[in-house]
Amino acid sequence: MGINDLDYLTVALPKGKLFSPSADLLAQAGLSADGLEESSRKLVLVNEQAKVKFIISKTADVPTYVEYGAADIGVIGKDVLEESGQEVYELLDLGFGQCHLMMAVPEGERRQHLEDYAHTRVATKFPRIAERFFSEHGMQMEYIKLNGSIELGPIVGLSESIVDIVETGTTLRENHLVEIVRIMDATARLISNRVSFQMKFERIHRLVEDLQEILKKGK
Ligand code: PRP
Repeated sequence: MGINDLDYLTVALPKGKLFSPSADLLAQAGLSADGLEESSRKLVLVNEQAKVKFIISKTADVPTYVEYGAADIGVIGKDVLEESGQEVYELLDLGFGQCHLMMAVPEGERRQHLEDYAHTRVATKFPRIAERFFSEHGMQMEYIKLNGSIELGPIVGLSESIVDIVETGTTLRENHLVEIVRIMDATARLISNRVSFQMKFERIHRLVEDLQEILKKGK
């Protein structure tokens, strides 16, 4: 599979919110497979005619599959890509999956300056990005790694703040949290294994061009 199988293009897709828009977009560029649906429990799907294999993984693992060449290419949010620190090529901004990473605190716990939160605890799924951001502001923090429902952290007294993704703002509002500072914007990206990009250059390059056309038309 992957870089050893030159006839096939192996694509890693994340479960979750990016799955459907990714599968739809790739299908428009001719990459599809029977049974490629969010509800499917199948982890590998093959389209022998189109010479495509899809692997369906946990969102945070997509960059890992691509870095190690288990997948040639993949779709992943810029936020998860940055956090992973994996050595892959970022080929294209796919435009969907718009969100931003920010720091939030409970209403009523607002402090005057960002620096006033120095030395407090931050609950987050993104400790690397958070640490980079706070160190750039000269702030030392204590990072508590959570794997989901980050908003719970300050509500139950686990942390003073969170660094998390906001899409619509509903989760913040419903949990009485307020945004303090925006850290980065993110959208879905097409990424490639570095060796695959050389070995399967024509196919990947053509795909990027096709996707660019499709995205342009969709605007
Ligand atoms: C993400 C994020 C927030 C929520 C933001 O969580 O961590 O909790 O979505 O979206 P909103 O601004 O539209 O409310 P996700 O649903 O991916 O699950 P998780 O909490 O398990 O990470």
